[in-house]
Amino acid sequence: MCGIFAYFNYKIERERRYILEVLFNGLRRLEYRGYDSSGIAIDAGECGSRGSVSSPLVFRQEGKIESLVRSVYEEVDASDLNLGESFSVHAGIAHTRWATHGVPSPRNSHPQSSGAGHEFLVVHNGIITNYEVLKETLVRHGYTFESDTDTEVIPKLAKFVFDKANDEEGVQTVTFSQVVMEVMRHLEGAYALIFKSSHYPNELIACKRGSPLLLGIRGEAEKVSCGTSFQDANLLRPNGQPKELFLSSDANAVVEHTRTFMVLEDDEDGGVTILKYDLGKVEINGIHRPASVHRALSVLEMEVEQIMKGNYDHFMQKEIHEQPESLTTTMRGRLISGDSSKAKGVLLGGLKDHLKTIRRSRRIVFIGCGTSYNAALAARPFMEELSGVPVTMEIASDLLDREGPIYREDTVVFVSQSGETADTLQALKYAKKNGALCVGITNTVGSAIARETDCGVHINAGCEIGVASTKAYTSQIVVMTMVALALGDDTISSQARREATLDGLLDLPNKVREVLKLNDELKSLAKLLMCEQSLLVFGRGCNYATALEGALKVKEVALMHSEGILAGEMKHGPLALVDETLPIIVIATHDACFRKQQSVIQQLHARKGRLIVICSKGDTSLVCTGGSCRVIEVPQVVDCLQPVINIVPLQLLAYHLTVLRGFNVDQPRNLAKSVTTQ
Ligand code: F6R
Repeated sequence: MCGIFAYFNYKIERERRYILEVLFNGLRRLEYRGYDSSGIAIDAGECGSRGSVSSPLVFRQEGKIESLVRSVYEEVDASDLNLGESFSVHAGIAHTRWATHGVPSPRNSHPQSSGAGHEFLVVHNGIITNYEVLKETLVRHGYTFESDTDTEVIPKLAKFVFDKANDEEGVQTVTFSQVVMEVMRHLEGAYALIFKSSHYPNELIACKRGSPLLLGIRGEAEKVSCGTSFQDANLLRPNGQPKELFLSSDANAVVEHTRTFMVLEDDEDGGVTILKYDLGKVEINGIHRPASVHRALSVLEMEVEQIMKGNYDHFMQKEIHEQPESLTTTMRGRLISGDSSKAKGVLLGGLKDHLKTIRRSRRIVFIGCGTSYNAALAARPFMEELSGVPVTMEIASDLLDREGPIYREDTVVFVSQSGETADTLQALKYAKKNGALCVGITNTVGSAIARETDCGVHINAGCEIGVASTKAYTSQIVVMTMVALALGDDTISSQARREATLDGLLDLPNKVREVLKLNDELKSLAKLLMCEQSLLVFGRGCNYATALEGALKVKEVALMHSEGILAGEMKHGPLALVDETLPIIVIATHDACFRKQQSVIQQLHARKGRLIVICSKGDTSLVCTGGSCRVIEVPQVVDCLQPVINIVPLQLLAYHLTVLRGFNVDQPRNLAKSVTTQ
């Protein structure tokens, strides 16, 4: 999983300094996707006509983007490269990496090259599954490899195809897209690729299969209104108007330049989509269908501020604190107003035509990974209660490992913040093959999961940059609660329950605002716990998910061992761990499981457990109140929404533990935001 970015200016004078900054900023925005190494390729000088060969300059560096930036400027200073040199046409490509094949190092960073002279350069997000076979063939033809990456076969294969075609013809007749199309025919796996070549100096080719890629356009095309066909956009005319193009793995890196964009789709025939930018014209082709494909341009709704840290030190901190707003946005326009200030129902446009089918399903199957799985687990009891349909849970990778049963009569709900997680996407393909109705719940408009599901709901939580998911988790729970309300019959017996939940939803942002006031208390708790080795979190009912999610947050960012435990399982093993030193967080807010949690607290207390209890505000019934144990009081809300409230203190605790322990909050070790490889 990586981020790729390209910037192409056409008939617009841009200095090298400007081009570099656009590329660096693109990488900074994508850094959350991978941050162990990065690289860029730019032109050495203004390219003349087609066919003039000048070797691009390639810079690659291990570590964060800023080390690449430093090294590029150092090299520029040391050479006679002029930052003020101006280019009227220029294609720059960039990459930020999260290692899958080969350790982080300059030689394993992208752009990967065809060899001396950088005749072909490639940046890649995804995985080439048959790279070993391709490598063996190329080695037999005399190619030597410098990196341990799967990607390196791509530029080498491009050179092989190019040389072969030209040897046969004696002159350069093969076009850049023909070279790339031929390369694509040999590649297996998932990828988004951008090619640059010294043989085709005014061209850039991008192609995709499985991995995300979008195109942003600034210039003439911005006058094109939303929905206009790509061909009508005046982009296919040769010698078109001045414009700038931005290719990116996601919208974050594009939104500060333009709001006019197009999500590139996989070729409908199962092949790849190829986008070619050449002398001012853009062409999009499917590999099995040479004719250009009409695609609509859209307007991004994202604001630049959404991807800035503002007054916060870290994205995770910002995203925790903006949950009252993100939840409001998630619910906006979806709660149908009734009398006075009350809501009387929910309207989910993306689901309304499918509700009947879902109600008649044999099962509802929730599928996700990590935090998204936990959000589904939190919503499961309410979904079962209101829909009356059995709800089963599947971790995407486990379903695939087992090839577990999915039936035509099932409704399968795919929960994913990014909408790109490889395991979830594969599980989606599997469920589709088995004929189930597939519903997507994602935060990323135009993502693969959003596109490939039959219907769905966007959580509209806004862009989440911190690798640890926070605001997406709470918005996912709220969306699934709304789905349950939409599915449930409006019967007399369920009326009070529905009304209480609708009221709870309306007031939820205020309640989250209230719980965020515990920030200082959680900071002081973090000071107390910062040197611990381990932490347990006990929950049950819909707060079992809170225990898992709280433990996951602590584990992934604070790098402290932490385990979420189903309290009902306490006596079947975990009790053996309890002593005076191990900190144990117990979630014991008021719900149907409260009495049982009281008993768990008593038993842990009796064994001198070091307890931190999350309880409902004003609750004096807990045995540990006032004793050695610490109590965190949170506002009480309707039980199905309580996980939204209860997770906030644990998010804050994980955040403060991370800062105090001196770890990187937004880019935890070995992790990246979207896991696009299996
Ligand atoms: C943890 C976290 C991960 C993701 C998981 C699935 O904070 O972010 O566990 O939840 O990788 O990602 P999505 O939701 O994008 O499918």
